[in-house]
Amino acid sequence: MKSPLRNDGFPSDFIWGCGTASYQIEGAAKEDGRGPSIWDEQASFSGRILDGSDGSQACDSYHRYMEDIELLKTLGVGAYRFSIAWPRIQPEGRGKPLNPGLDYYSRLVDALLEKGIEPWATLYHWDLPLALERAGGWTNRETSYRFVEYTAIMFEKLGGRVKSWTSVNEPWCSAFLGYQYGEHAPGLHDPKAAIAAVHHLLLAHGLCAQAHRDSGKGGVFGIVINPSTPRPATGCPGDLAAARRASLERTALWLDPVFGRGYPKEYTDAAPAEFPVKTGDMDLIASPVDFIGVNYYDENVVAECKPTPDAPWGYAKVPSWQEKTEMDWYIVPQGLRRVLRHISREYSPKAIYVTENGAAFKDEVSKDGGIHDPGRIDYLKSHLGACREAIVDGVPLRGYFVWSLLDNFEWAWGYTRKFGITAVEPGSFARKPKDSFYYYRDAVAGFGLD
Ligand code: FCB
Repeated sequence: MKSPLRNDGFPSDFIWGCGTASYQIEGAAKEDGRGPSIWDEQASFSGRILDGSDGSQACDSYHRYMEDIELLKTLGVGAYRFSIAWPRIQPEGRGKPLNPGLDYYSRLVDALLEKGIEPWATLYHWDLPLALERAGGWTNRETSYRFVEYTAIMFEKLGGRVKSWTSVNEPWCSAFLGYQYGEHAPGLHDPKAAIAAVHHLLLAHGLCAQAHRDSGKGGVFGIVINPSTPRPATGCPGDLAAARRASLERTALWLDPVFGRGYPKEYTDAAPAEFPVKTGDMDLIASPVDFIGVNYYDENVVAECKPTPDAPWGYAKVPSWQEKTEMDWYIVPQGLRRVLRHISREYSPKAIYVTENGAAFKDEVSKDGGIHDPGRIDYLKSHLGACREAIVDGVPLRGYFVWSLLDNFEWAWGYTRKFGITAVEPGSFARKPKDSFYYYRDAVAGFGLD
């Protein structure tokens, strides 16, 4: 049965939330037995992080999570998406779990529930225990089995209280930015390794889906991807085909196997290595999911080009007319609607959540003491508008999470790119809501769209 619509056109049971990730906000990198992750190592190499920073302190949320929850309460959101740092649970990625780590997430979950906020737990948001990387990381099948062991521990500890789980966040980034383009940890440049990582991340997801079911604790389970369906520069067949090829690696490569279609042949035929598939893997990967999480920031335009070493797939990004954020990403709210419609039509998932959406802008504290960020407000407003249109189109969109509650450690960009609706003062870690924070509070309450 359809729930009634609010005045702003969103269903009354739509989930409004905010997101963060462990390495980006927690800090306390050496506390309570936490082991090093691949991102601690990545940040220790000179030149890998734009401002030479790391996540060792980040927003200090490990100690200040109660302040973060107060912010969520003020926003009025119904859900908080956070991730669990595997190296806090198993410092070496295997063996007996550490109690302080388990207790931290347990306290966080209880405190959220007490305030009426649903915890949404991501099991892997890129902080792989370094010890596992030493053994090959995601290129090693063993890592998928270690992952499922860790996730079973989490289901046992938090299952029932946490009702919404996701396995891996944006596995495209882990596989390709991590193993092929070197931008993310572990910083490798090995296209063959990236293919192995794709398969093992998906296998980890499939095994985890099974472990979730076997835990018997109930709740819903999904995967979070960052799909991309670039627009073709023209309607010519060459550009149309180029746009389709450009979307393969970010969309069908993940969703085809999750929905039981196996890897897209167009991709595997041209891939630099064979996918290390063993009997039974594809069935595991196709274990039923309750929802698909979509992280969306931008949309590009592509045109056909001659294949070159830099453009092996015969497509190239071409200029667009839209304005850009501080990341140099085009602001394309209709792209969000397009990607949601595409996934909905092509795969018919039971539900979709926008698990991340937001924008980096240069923010300054103005003379009146406020942080006025009209660019971010426009961004959020236009993308919420696109969500509403997608719902009218019939997309089973059930919720939306702003990225991010806080300015935080933005991976290779360090602290130079700010996605928060709340600023965090360096040194004191004082939280300061920006105008966009109050805009989002209004949106959650039903007054965010004209
Ligand atoms: C996504 C990541 C998230 C954050 C945003 C800006 O790709 O999942 O951690 O870095 O981009």
